[in-house]
Amino acid sequence: MDFKFTEEQEMIQQAAKDFAERELLADVIERDDNAIFPKEHIKKLAELGFLGMMTDPKYDGGGMDTVSYVLAMEEISKIDASVSVVMSVCNSLVNWGLETYGNEAQKEKYLKPLARGEKIGAFLLSEPEAGSDATSQRTTAEDKGDYYLLNGTKNWITNANSASTYLVIAQTYPEKKHKGINAFIVEKDSPGITLGPHENKMGMRSSDTHSVMFNDVKVSKENRIGEDGFGFTFAMKTLDGGRIGIASQALGIASGAFERALKYSRERKAFGTEIFNHQSVAFKLSDMAVKIENARNLCLKAAWLKDQHLPYGTASAMAKQYCADVAMEITTEAVQIHGGYGYVKEYHVERLMREAKLTQIYEGTSEVQKIIISRSLLK
Ligand code: CAA
Repeated sequence: MDFKFTEEQEMIQQAAKDFAERELLADVIERDDNAIFPKEHIKKLAELGFLGMMTDPKYDGGGMDTVSYVLAMEEISKIDASVSVVMSVCNSLVNWGLETYGNEAQKEKYLKPLARGEKIGAFLLSEPEAGSDATSQRTTAEDKGDYYLLNGTKNWITNANSASTYLVIAQTYPEKKHKGINAFIVEKDSPGITLGPHENKMGMRSSDTHSVMFNDVKVSKENRIGEDGFGFTFAMKTLDGGRIGIASQALGIASGAFERALKYSRERKAFGTEIFNHQSVAFKLSDMAVKIENARNLCLKAAWLKDQHLPYGTASAMAKQYCADVAMEITTEAVQIHGGYGYVKEYHVERLMREAKLTQIYEGTSEVQKIIISRSLLK
């Protein structure tokens, strides 16, 4: 086994680190406090090619592998997960879904501008009554001959306002249950689409989350992705890769908190010495380091499997569950090591702790990952 990264992978990792430290760090607290979408920061991220980094150059993407994507996601998430979630949704849900299952006309029209980073995408699956239970879609896509008519509400949609291209999952044949679901490319400006207010979230406050309402929205037949009834499989397959993105986001949140806690422990003095010299602190940091190493290895293994075109659904669920749970544990410990300073904003770890919580919830809760993993044990 070769654990060494290639020169190109290391360059991408360094570029992401430089970008995050140079462009994101200075105002991350202010943007989070005031829930300001990082529009200019995303523009710069797009100019560096990160929004379409894994898409084939044939469709104007960067053609990079999933391992590079994990490395970049970790670096950006160490500083600002509200930015890395945009990168994750664009790369591994929207672009990958279109590249893998879209037809040539769809790729030409919709994928290319997304891969160039000129447009942002969003993935609309969750509903008020269909979160973890994704087969129970209530949004309907009625077949009207030349077009579909969409009605219903989607919830918790990341990039809902900033995206131009939506991938929408909706039910066409309710009697067929999940086999009657379709996936569509929908332009956000289509008549009949309205947005709910910006969600006032606990963490990742500057990412752009809204509900989206569809009221008799016409979608051309050409915009259906894949065969009639392919929508649920499309969503599941796409989420398999999306979970590598969120796992690496959780990893970055954890390692960002760890690095801050380690630095603090070598500066802060108590009882006559730097607190790192107290075994109670050193052992905490040692446990944190082991968990981060495990989390990183799970992410990289899932990414490597995907790059090798081997099955990766279970590996991505394992990475997502473990990294998210570890992110919660490690950020909590990082706050503890900082004491009172950890509980105020300037030291960043309280924000990282709030961000970690979301990674246990979106793209499938930790419990959903356990469903996927436990079912795979029976196969
Ligand atoms: N690949 C291909 N097919 C799959 C699949 C996969 N990974 N997972 C399931 N399927 C198929 C099954 O084989 C089955 O097909 P058949 O009927 O032909 O046998 C069908 O789909 C139904 O599957 P299940 O019986 O497993 O369905 P279920 O209802 O028991 O539960 C679940 C499945 C895994 C819990 C699923 O509902 C799920 O993933 N839920 C979570 C949804 C989620 O992650 N939402 C996140 C929203 S996106 C987001 O958060 C983005 C963001 O903002 C950052």
